Amino acid sequence: MDSKQDLRIIQAAYTASAVRSNQYPEGDLQEIAFLGRSNVGKSSLINSLCNQRGLARVSGDPGKTRTVNFYTVVLQEKQEDQQAFRQSAFFVDLPGYGFARTGGKNRDTWSSFINEYVQQSQRLVLLCLLVDLRHPGLPIDAQAYAWLASHGVPLQLIGTKADKLKASELKRNLSTLNQQFPGVFPAIAYSSLKHSGRDVLLARFQEVINN
Ligand code: GTP
Ligand code: MG
Repeated sequence: MDSKQDLRIIQAAYTASAVRSNQYPEGDLQEIAFLGRSNVGKSSLINSLCNQRGLARVSGDPGKTRTVNFYTVVLQEKQEDQQAFRQSAFFVDLPGYGFARTGGKNRDTWSSFINEYVQQSQRLVLLCLLVDLRHPGLPIDAQAYAWLASHGVPLQLIGTKADKLKASELKRNLSTLNQQFPGVFPAIAYSSLKHSGRDVLLARFQEVINN
């Protein structure tokens, strides 16, 4: 039996929002974080993974998520035997970067909350770096990747909005993404609209949680 197919998030709930590390929730749950440009689809990805539309707030206007938001999730493998995998974890929705609101305060931001989170979190096991699959290799994403890699952050690249590309473009852009941002595991193409990429991403989470 292919266990990947039967891996699901069976529970998901909002837990806390933080602007400082002393506001992070207590406990020893491992964390999987989501980072990327504003509007790339971080909150939508969390909702798709959890199969709950309104869990994380989604918006067409960039800069929706401004705080570090924690969600408690339970990942379970549906299996007949007693050995079925079942683990709780935090999903961490980080503020988007690169949002320039002309004349506003949030010009070209890389929130200090991101730095603090990456440097302070003791429980981070995987950081999903989301890149719009239509635009692989933007300089701002390259900067984010380089900074995270230099800090030794365990990364998973995700190409978002896969439903907006033709199959041939998707293949080409995914390979560009893999060349530009090499990782232990290849980039995953994801569509939060169609939930494509979900099984392979959940299987990746199973690998890193409690390993
Ligand atoms: P910030 O919180 O502002 O940083 O944005 P975010 O990265 O959390 O993006 P969010 O999930 O709010 O989505 C931004 C917009 O992209 C919304 O209009 C979503 O409906 C749309 N979107 C997100 N994922 C997908 C996808 O897979 N396919 C399509 N077609 N649209 C998507
Ligand atoms: Mg968001």
